Amino acid sequence: MKPIDPPKTFRVKSFGCQMNVYDGERMAELLGERGIVPAPEGEDADLVVLNTCHIREKAAEKVYSDIGRLTKGKTQKKAPMIAVAGCVAQAEGEEIMARAPAVSMVVGPQAYHRLPEMLDKAVKGERSTDTDMPAIAKFDSLPTRKRRSPTAFLTVQEGCDKFCTYCVVPYTRGAEISRPYSDLIAEAHRLVEAGAREITLLGQNVNAWSGEDDKGRAVGLAGLIHALADIDGLERIRYTTSHPNDMDDALIAAHGEIDKLMPYLHLPVQSGSDRVLKAMNRSHTAESYLQLLERFRAARPDIALSGDFIVGFPGETEAEFEETLSLVDEVRYAAAFSFKYSPRPGTPAATMDHQIAAEVMDDRLQRLQARLNRDQLAFNEASVGRTCKVLIERKGKHEGQWLGKSPWLQSVWFDGDYQLGDLVEVELAEAGPNSLRGLVREAANA
Ligand code: 5AD
Ligand code: SF4
Repeated sequence: MKPIDPPKTFRVKSFGCQMNVYDGERMAELLGERGIVPAPEGEDADLVVLNTCHIREKAAEKVYSDIGRLTKGKTQKKAPMIAVAGCVAQAEGEEIMARAPAVSMVVGPQAYHRLPEMLDKAVKGERSTDTDMPAIAKFDSLPTRKRRSPTAFLTVQEGCDKFCTYCVVPYTRGAEISRPYSDLIAEAHRLVEAGAREITLLGQNVNAWSGEDDKGRAVGLAGLIHALADIDGLERIRYTTSHPNDMDDALIAAHGEIDKLMPYLHLPVQSGSDRVLKAMNRSHTAESYLQLLERFRAARPDIALSGDFIVGFPGETEAEFEETLSLVDEVRYAAAFSFKYSPRPGTPAATMDHQIAAEVMDDRLQRLQARLNRDQLAFNEASVGRTCKVLIERKGKHEGQWLGKSPWLQSVWFDGDYQLGDLVEVELAEAGPNSLRGLVREAANA
């Protein structure tokens, strides 16, 4: 490759989960330290980072088509320097280097703290790949956080040891690791000083987080949340994503004890059939999952529940799929994410017998989503008349309109003289499937 002018502007395009959004922000901060600034909206960037997701669908093909569009002038006028990051980089780094000469850097999710060195090489015309997995080293060498936003993500745990048979995460993100307690408390303080009023703790198995507090006592996620709740100026705490088998009594109890912990739980179940759950290596049953939810409801009766579902796992029969529908009917989720099973190279399920036909999956997904949408709307409708605090996250479509989140993670829009980051007492007045209209009673905020 020929030497390239050092980039002055960058754009990070993050796909997939919130962990990628967090990683994307941290890569942006790293580039910022080097004096490279975000490209203004609608203008060409000198460096584009494709922060990819490998969890479903034809992830690699999408990366190649994005690269093609960037080099052929379809995305922007001038071809940029390109870095491929994220889970596709981890899983298929060598192949990307071989197939896409326009790519200067391939960097895995545990190695992106080395991006500046790779950039130095790229400027000299040397291409480089780094897909090592020294997870803690990454966090230690990232710059101090300066992000200004009312809501922030904080990665507390990464990786997964569960090996669900459909999932690539254990391969792309590596083994479970927990970041040290003191590092997390320090990062949370910095986020709050920079303006965060809500922090969402992130991890592929966030509730598997464990550490030692400042007195050397072993603590789990509940202990960490208790400590974070003591930070002045931090108003709200959330966490995602949890695994049913890592739930402990302390975390369930925390929902009844900590006002700042929001009444919302994302707890994927994937299927309502015990046979399918076993084939998925989920190590819980439909019944044990339902019992767990009951304990959360007992601790926090207004808790909003959310889940993930996969339809069309290899061998799933119509009757087994209907067990998923029954579970949905029983839980009545406030929100949910549902997907067609997608065979991932290298995972055990990809080579299982009885892969399900595309039309069958389409039909099942539609039927499942009809119920989940029904329940989401019902949850929103049942909220009408409630008064709650809404944290303003962004401006609405017209002047004086604001958009924020209720404690139950519903989008709420309302009018008034406010600013980003305000926590406003709002009456939920009208419900749609994806958002609610709020009314501000002036006296409440006087
Ligand atoms: N196919 C379809 N959905 C998947 N998920 C993970 N792997 C696959 C796959 N191979 C879904 C699960 C998980 C969510 C993040 O993505 O529901 O909880
Ligand atoms: Fe994937 Fe299962 Fe680990 Fe979640 S728990 S990341 S679905 S292997």
